[in-house]
Amino acid sequence: MSIAARKSDFPILDQTVNGHRLVYLDSAATSQKPRAVIEAVRRYYERDNANVHRGVHTLGTRATEAYEGAREKVARFIGARSASEIVFTRGTTEALNMVALGYARPRLGPGDEILLSPAEHHSNLIPWQQAAKATGATLKYLPLQPDGTVALADVRAALSPRTKLVAIAHISNVLGTIHPVAEIARLAHEVGAVVVVDGAQSVPHLPVDVQALDCDFLAFSGHKMCGPTGIGVLYGKRRLLEDMEPVYFGGEMIDVVELYESTWKELPWKFEGGTPVIAGAVGLAAAIDYLTEVGMEAIRDHDRRLTAYALERLRELDDVTVYGPADAERRGGLVTFNLGSIHPHDVSTVLDAEGVAIRAGHHCAQPLMRILGVPATARASFYLYNDESDIDALVGALRSAKEFFKHAIG
Ligand code: ALA
Repeated sequence: MSIAARKSDFPILDQTVNGHRLVYLDSAATSQKPRAVIEAVRRYYERDNANVHRGVHTLGTRATEAYEGAREKVARFIGARSASEIVFTRGTTEALNMVALGYARPRLGPGDEILLSPAEHHSNLIPWQQAAKATGATLKYLPLQPDGTVALADVRAALSPRTKLVAIAHISNVLGTIHPVAEIARLAHEVGAVVVVDGAQSVPHLPVDVQALDCDFLAFSGHKMCGPTGIGVLYGKRRLLEDMEPVYFGGEMIDVVELYESTWKELPWKFEGGTPVIAGAVGLAAAIDYLTEVGMEAIRDHDRRLTAYALERLRELDDVTVYGPADAERRGGLVTFNLGSIHPHDVSTVLDAEGVAIRAGHHCAQPLMRILGVPATARASFYLYNDESDIDALVGALRSAKEFFKHAIG
């Protein structure tokens, strides 16, 4: 099932940075774009660009077909029952905020609980914090195991009829942990809670089927899966989306507007106020074609292989601390670590001087940094265009960083 790295499909990788071959290991922040996606967006602007759902001219029809065709493609890609369950958003953050504002806030009240993991990305934490503040509901956090995983026994113990919503990342953007979302959903449904899954790190990297997971909402971003920035998806079960309030009001989402009252379009358009990100949807559709052609199982397998190799190579540097599960089987394609007591920003700067791009910082997960007892970490994240030589370059650059900061390693 393993694939050869697809470097040559990605024009941006064919360059040197600071005199070295570019080694891009920051795909968890944003992925690079294959030529097929860049071309699809260019072609759309050169031939088909028009607004959707309104023009009765040829370009308007083409743009509408491309936009709605992209929605169908997304629905098939994640196994949704229908394209009406796919709402285009600007990204994961917007999608999660829409659920918090349009679904959770009108329903929650004092005594209700929202269950979260403390490893959540801020985008899957602050919307719930704000919803709790606005409604009087309580936030409840699952404990983390020493390796950063969530134990199902703890989920079971935390759930009660008071739990109205469970929000969890499918794959942690810091620890790489793959959470057992299907089992969590089954337990949550037993107490009548809805399950919101942050799929930002999973949908690009492994096969995701919303019916198999039985999640109620799933949010993800186009730009982490070879698509353009500015386009994302909120999947929701039809019944829940029907009950959910729109968050943006204005053009495109209305049915009839009177001076004092208005009605909304049917799903999914009632959530898409204003001119949508049409070119973004076109690019996302091209990205899905590209990923599908490579094969999501093959991508998962490739990530797993690179992660196992990275964990093994990083162990050679005996002053590296790796966070998250030790077993690549239980992790997505990323490795978060610290090198001795060198600040990760300094590590990242030395790596950049050797053409190696990683992310350093709190990774939008400050509560998790506090649990790990560090202000920040370095993170190398992989995708289908990486191979073992990129990890060798990472390890080589880390040796240079060690040498450079010799005095600081405690
Ligand atoms: N959430 C993205 C990351 O982890 C931006 O880098």
